[in-house]
Amino acid sequence: MRELEGRRLVIGVTGGVAAYKTAELVRLLVKAGADVHVVLTEAGARFVGAVTFQALSGNPVWTDLWDARMSNNMAHIDLTRGADAVLIAPASADVLAKLVHGLADDLLTTLCLARDCPLLVAPAMNRQMWEHPATVRNVAQLREDGVTVLGPDAGDQACGEVGMGRMLEPELLFEAVAARFQSKLLAGRKVVLTAGPTFEAIDPVRGITNSSSGKMGYALARACARAGAAEVVLVSGPTGLPAPWGVRRVDVKSALEMRDAVLAALPGADVFIGVAAVADYRPAQPAEHKIKKSGEALALTLAPNPDILAEVAARPDAPFCVGFAAESRELDAYAEGKRRAKKLPLLVGNLVQDGLGGDDNEVILYDDAGRHPLARAPKPAIAQRIVEHLAALLRARKG
Ligand code: PMT
Repeated sequence: MRELEGRRLVIGVTGGVAAYKTAELVRLLVKAGADVHVVLTEAGARFVGAVTFQALSGNPVWTDLWDARMSNNMAHIDLTRGADAVLIAPASADVLAKLVHGLADDLLTTLCLARDCPLLVAPAMNRQMWEHPATVRNVAQLREDGVTVLGPDAGDQACGEVGMGRMLEPELLFEAVAARFQSKLLAGRKVVLTAGPTFEAIDPVRGITNSSSGKMGYALARACARAGAAEVVLVSGPTGLPAPWGVRRVDVKSALEMRDAVLAALPGADVFIGVAAVADYRPAQPAEHKIKKSGEALALTLAPNPDILAEVAARPDAPFCVGFAAESRELDAYAEGKRRAKKLPLLVGNLVQDGLGGDDNEVILYDDAGRHPLARAPKPAIAQRIVEHLAALLRARKG
């Protein structure tokens, strides 16, 4: 994914403890090939010094409207000329208010007025400041003015309180910025996905599960969000993964819960992608209390689970359904057999030894035109290729 390569980004840093997270964001952006220019406000410089941002960005850091290093003394104009975006992170309540009113009393607010590129803000402030009617009004106005507001998040705050107002984590801000520069192959589409394993309880302590990590499904959900999908709902079995940016995650444990969550999310969906390794069977009668060791053999009766993908694909109003098939041998025969049995326009086949649990995968896409092998690659890259193929099929279907 090279969408940030060569992009010129201006990162504004205002006063807030979250400024330390912006240092990591700058590192991520630079690593992805962006040309990052940091503008610190006076308050921002009290939290993280210019030297840190200079070292991380590899560019001079700007703080002063009257900086003599700019030969024409026009830092407020020159910094945004050719810029692909300005992101203010953290954005204090003060800077949001200034942006709403077009105030220009320092370098950052002045260059925001003089810019002709998109402006993104990542608010960070105490929860009461965030909930104050003035801030609520200001944020609504900024959105109306075309400013993209990223976050904030809820959680522990530096002041010791708990609530809305934490700046989004650097990885999520990175995703949001990168997504701006990606082609919007799924613009306007609603996508529902499943990912991860299911856990079928034997008793309150034990259960039947499998070693799906969720990495493939999460990578695909992230790729859909980056491709501009209007809504991405990820129904996830138990994994240790964070929800990707732009994705609404619904946590479930068992196949039955997964089925209910999928059906609840389905109205309005254009695409359904079943990546989850759903248990085909569950203990017919989970014990209410922990089963005690007896020294005797223990027999479990298993009941079949519903096939979520088959059920969705069989609906009269079925969305475009994409299945996965994990096999340990004879991939072509089994995968294509599953695709035909469930009447799927697209199925992604992989061998468990290639795809289960790891960071990379090697897959073959099966559709009505035949088989399309993809070379082994990290799961995010595979996910991007699947989205491109899916988008082409959706376009062809429409046309
Ligand atoms: O999570 P990772 O570690 O990244 O691993 C990724 C993966 C190997 C799990 C993934 O790439 C994959 O292959 N997922 C499908 C695994 C699977 O259960 O395949 P299956 O052949 O048993 O099922 C076929 C399809 O029906 C799948 O889309 C599955 O989600 C769906 N299904 C299966 C059973 C069931 N009861 N309900 C379903 O919806």
